[in-house]
Order: sequence, then structure tokens, then C-alpha cells
Amino acid sequence: MAAPSPDPGSVRAVRELLLAAGYSTAGIAAIGIEVELGVREPDIAILSRALEGVEPLATLVRLFLLGEHVDTRALPGAVERATADLAAAGLLVVDGSRIRPRVRLTPWRGLIVAHDPDPPGDLWDEHVSGPTPAADALLQLVPADAAPGARALDMGTGCGLLALAIEASVRGVVATDINPVALRYTALNAGLNGISTIETRAGSWFEPVEEESFGLIVANPPFVISPESSLIFRHSPHSRDEASRDVVRSIAGHLQDGGYGYALVNWIQAPGRPWLDTIAGWLEGTGCDAVVLLHGIDDPLAYAVRWNVREQQLRPDRYPATLDRWLDHFRDESIAAIATAGVVLRRRSMPNWRHGIELTGRGRGAAGPQIRAIVAGQDFLQAHDAADDLLRTAFTMDTPHRLYQTLAFRDGEYVVEPAALGLEEGLGIPVAVEPDLIQVALRLDGSQTLAGIVQEVAEATGADSVSLSNRSIELVRALLGQGFAAAGAGGRTGPA
Ligand SMILES: C[S@@+](CC[C@H](N)C(=O)[O-])C[C@H]1O[C@@H](n2cnc3c(N)ncnc32)[C@H](O)[C@@H]1O
Repeated sequence: MAAPSPDPGSVRAVRELLLAAGYSTAGIAAIGIEVELGVREPDIAILSRALEGVEPLATLVRLFLLGEHVDTRALPGAVERATADLAAAGLLVVDGSRIRPRVRLTPWRGLIVAHDPDPPGDLWDEHVSGPTPAADALLQLVPADAAPGARALDMGTGCGLLALAIEASVRGVVATDINPVALRYTALNAGLNGISTIETRAGSWFEPVEEESFGLIVANPPFVISPESSLIFRHSPHSRDEASRDVVRSIAGHLQDGGYGYALVNWIQAPGRPWLDTIAGWLEGTGCDAVVLLHGIDDPLAYAVRWNVREQQLRPDRYPATLDRWLDHFRDESIAAIATAGVVLRRRSMPNWRHGIELTGRGRGAAGPQIRAIVAGQDFLQAHDAADDLLRTAFTMDTPHRLYQTLAFRDGEYVVEPAALGLEEGLGIPVAVEPDLIQVALRLDGSQTLAGIVQEVAEATGADSVSLSNRSIELVRALLGQGFAAAGAGGRTGPA
């Protein structure tokens, strides 16, 4: 598809039209359409029938959300008057008596995002996709106040999603991509959202920022491991996991001291090897600490199925051959399993730590604060992991959370089962708490040391204090490791 070539004045006029019409997640929900990550082809027939005649919003939705062609004679006044600007901004083409949209406009995270349509057939090589669950998953890790005053980099920006989303938390964003169509979309999207602090640069990987460093780097690179190489947004030229490795190492090399990098990656998981090993190897000598969040490990068939859902739905005739091609590739490359993860890097002088967490459930919204707490917890444990240090320290657990406890009815009585702590917001990973440690967990308010808590609970319950102490230390390590607890009270950190 030809790229939109935005005219700045027209883009401003279109922005005003969209704002005035209420073209936003909430505005469109009010006419009965839930946008989420855009509208998928099979839903269009239903949605176009559900549209009420709230103009000009209904016409804008027909054009830019559903991708319908609209008769020029049926245009509401506001869209008719803006037709020249919509065309000059590259959003539509007037084709005789019909108006044809060239792009989709998806409301997402309070922004409007222009991107290529998701057609019912094959995607083209330079296809630029819209909001995806992957981009959402990556952004959930980035705190809202990520790096005030610092410059940021979005490597492989696509239509500019991540750059747009982090722009408010930094001093400016450099958005790079190898695909010139993507960069035109990024510039268009900056204009549509009234943003002037995103600079686009063309080039491969980190070439456009060779000598520069940043306080924040985000990258959702083409990490998929496959025999394919055509789709720029998904396929790298490599047959194995080189793209993820190089991106992780390059992010590390372009971070300022104290800067954070966030990336989604895949790696080839060798049988019997601890899953953190591969990425820890990639990070050797980079000067970065790392929190690695494992989404899952797929065998070759599960992985091939996951990345070919579109082909299964739209080209069932070709699907069996595609699966065979992918499986042959994995066999030829001796790939037995592939891991998918999010990686958070923080540049800091050596010695560096690596911390792996397996994500077990669905995330619960913003996880940036939890990631920060995990990093602080690992820093603390690096210096104070000894049992005596931990016992001498006061810990707080004051992030909003829940304690889930179950009583199971067995043999005529209720039995207390192990409990679980869960943060209200964050990664959605629970921390298990044995029944007799609940009293310890409930006392983590920073007012006394862990040793004091253990003594108090042992006296109150008659528990063996040595066992209680050892298991309390393990509980605190787990709470620090998952970002539930922090060392210190009232700003006082370190052993008390
Ligand atoms: C998975 S998409 C991510 C797009 C967007 N950042 C997001 O999160 O939705 C990967 C992006 O990397 C870009 N890309 C692919 N190969 C690249 C390369 N060698 N150098 C820079 N960008 C590249 C693609 O054009 C695409 O925009």
C-alpha cells in the first residue's frame, strides 16, 4: 500500500475534525463500538449495521475504523468540508463519486493511531500494523514517569506506537525504522496527536543513533524465529535468534548510566538448560542489570501455530504447507523450543545481577511501579542477602494488594490452605504464603525488623522460632524478588 505523505497543515485540520467529532475510544464506545485493538475484518458486517447516525462520527468510523467506502453525496457537512484536508493528509482518496480510506485510524491509549488496514488477504512486505497486544504488554512495563528530562529511543517504531505512548514521560523521542512507510506513519501520527517531540530517522537497527545514548529505550523488534523473511515488521533476515540477541546487546550499549531499556525477545531454548542462561549470556559484559519476564516456552509446533493464526483463518489451503515449512526449518536448525520474554535492562556499573520471573497469569494493568520495586529489591538483595542482614532489616509492603486465603472443608472440618498475595496492579504474579507465615506478612509495615516480627509471632503462636525465622527470610526474599515489599521504613533503606 502507498504510504501517506502528510501535509502538516492538513494534518492539523484533520486532528481538529477528529477531536470535534469525538473520534476516541470513549466517543466511539458511545455509539456502540468497542475498539480495543482495532476492528477485525469478520466484525465489520456486524458493526456497520450497529452504527447509529451520529454524524460526523458515524461516517468517520465507517471510513477509518471499518474501512468502508462512502458515497460523496452522503457525506455529513463536517467531513465534506474536510475532504481536501483528509486527502492531503494522506488518509483517503476521492475516487469518482466514492471516498476510499487509505489508512485505518485506531483510538488507543488516549491517542489516535493511523496504520495500514488489516486486509482479508496476504499482507504486503512493507505492511505497517496498528496497536497489538505485544505493544501493550511492553508499555505496561514502562512507568508513566519513565525518564523525565531524558531523551528516549524507540527502535523499530512502526507506526510510532511506543514513541507516542512514552513521549509525555521524556524530553523527546528518536523513532527509527528501516521501513520508510513506517516513518511516514509515525510523523503523521505525531501530527494527528499534536505531538512535536518525536524525531524520525531511517536506518537499520541502531545505525541511525550510532554514537548516541538515551535515558530510555523501547524496542519491539521483528523477533520471530522462522523460515520467512518477507514481512519487515515481523521477520528478521536471521534464521535463528540473532535479532533478539543483537537488539538486547545494542540497547545495553546505547543506555546512559541509570537508563532503562525495555524489549520483547525470543530465544532458542536449549533442552535442560535453565531458561535465564541464554539471555544472561547475551548480557555478559554489557554493564546492565536485567529483569527477564518469561511469557512462555513453546515447542516448534505450538510456536508455528501461534505465528500463523492469520494464515490458518485466511489461507487454509496454504496452511498445512506453511506449518511443514516452519517445522522443517526448526528441525534443520536443531531448534527444540523457543522462549518468549520481555526484558528490562538498567545500566549500572558492575557487578550486575540478572533476575528471572515466570509470568503465570494475565497482567493487571500498569506494571512499571512493580518493575521498579523488583529492581530496588534486587539491588538490596545484592548487598544484603545474608540471613542476618535480612533479619536486622524492617520491610514494608504498602503497595495496594490482596491476600487470598481459602478454607477447604475436609473430613468434617475447615483446613487453612496456603494463601497467596497479589498486587492490585502489575504483572499478575502471586506470591504464595504458608498459613503460619501470614502473621509475618501482615506485620511488614516497616515498624519493626524481621527478627522482631519473627519473635513476636513465635511467642504468640508457639511456633518453632528457628523454622519460622528461616521461612520468613525466604518469604521476604520472594516478596522483594517480585516487587511486593521494600526494604526500610519511611524512606529508610538498608539493614536497620
Ligand atoms: C514488531 S514491529 C513493532 C512496531 C511497533 N514498535 C510496535 O511496537 O507495534 C517491528 C518494527 O521493526 C521494524 N524493523 C524491522 N527490521 C528492522 C531493522 N533492521 N532496523 C530497524 N527497524 C526494523 C519494522 O519495520 C517494524 O516497524
